[in-house]
Amino acid sequence: MIPKSTNIRRARQEISLHKRWEKNSHASGVIWFTGLSGSGKSTLASELEQLLFDRNKQVVSLDGDDLRYGLCADLGFLPEDRAENIRRVGEVASLFSASGAIVLTAFISPYRADRLKARKAAVGNFHEIYLSADLNTCIDRDPKGLYAKAQRGEISHFTGISAPYEAPESPELTLDTGLLDVKKSLKILDEYVEKAFSL
Ligand SMILES: Nc1ncnc2c1ncn2[C@@H]1O[C@H](COP(=O)(O)OP(=O)(O)OP(=O)(O)O)[C@@H](O)[C@H]1O
Ligand SMILES: [Mg+2]
Repeated sequence: MIPKSTNIRRARQEISLHKRWEKNSHASGVIWFTGLSGSGKSTLASELEQLLFDRNKQVVSLDGDDLRYGLCADLGFLPEDRAENIRRVGEVASLFSASGAIVLTAFISPYRADRLKARKAAVGNFHEIYLSADLNTCIDRDPKGLYAKAQRGEISHFTGISAPYEAPESPELTLDTGLLDVKKSLKILDEYVEKAFSL
């Protein structure tokens, strides 16, 4: 996005990204989970965060519902609101990544164009992880009862029911969380992250 302001100048960065990586003994970047509601984004982000934290990694997670209480409290679920939601998340993730952290994001982020913007905004590595559990699996799980509400017409613009989900075309990793259980998914993620963020 081109800034509205013209009289602005970037602050000097005294500490280079590489110095931060050396200090942390790992690279920084974004692990961007995408998938339908109920595909397991929050579950896996939270488990992975705990695992990395226990190994002394600098890790932070950003969750869709959490951000809608604060930074994104003014946004709903229309396509333009979702685009702005993901733009903000992409920028925040980039800031944390620039500080040296491994950032885990758990957002449906249904539109390809929005995810691409988040990728372009990211300082450090960006890894799109597609949780490909299919719609029927997610409807059966319905951990928050939202699919039932959407099917009764009580929620509009609900991804998979009354709003689209554009699956990633070339994600860095796909996990079929309809077939894999949490433990197996986590093991694959653990191995992936160890490789992707090693110096
Ligand atoms: N392999 C798996 N990975 C993640 N979750 C799984 C897996 N298998 C089963 N589950 C279950 O599926 C549900 C996923 O719910 P979760 O809240 O994590 O989804 P979400 O993608 O964050 O949804 P939302 O977009 O609504 O926030 C949980 O109840 C979890 O225990
Ligand atoms: Mg969630």
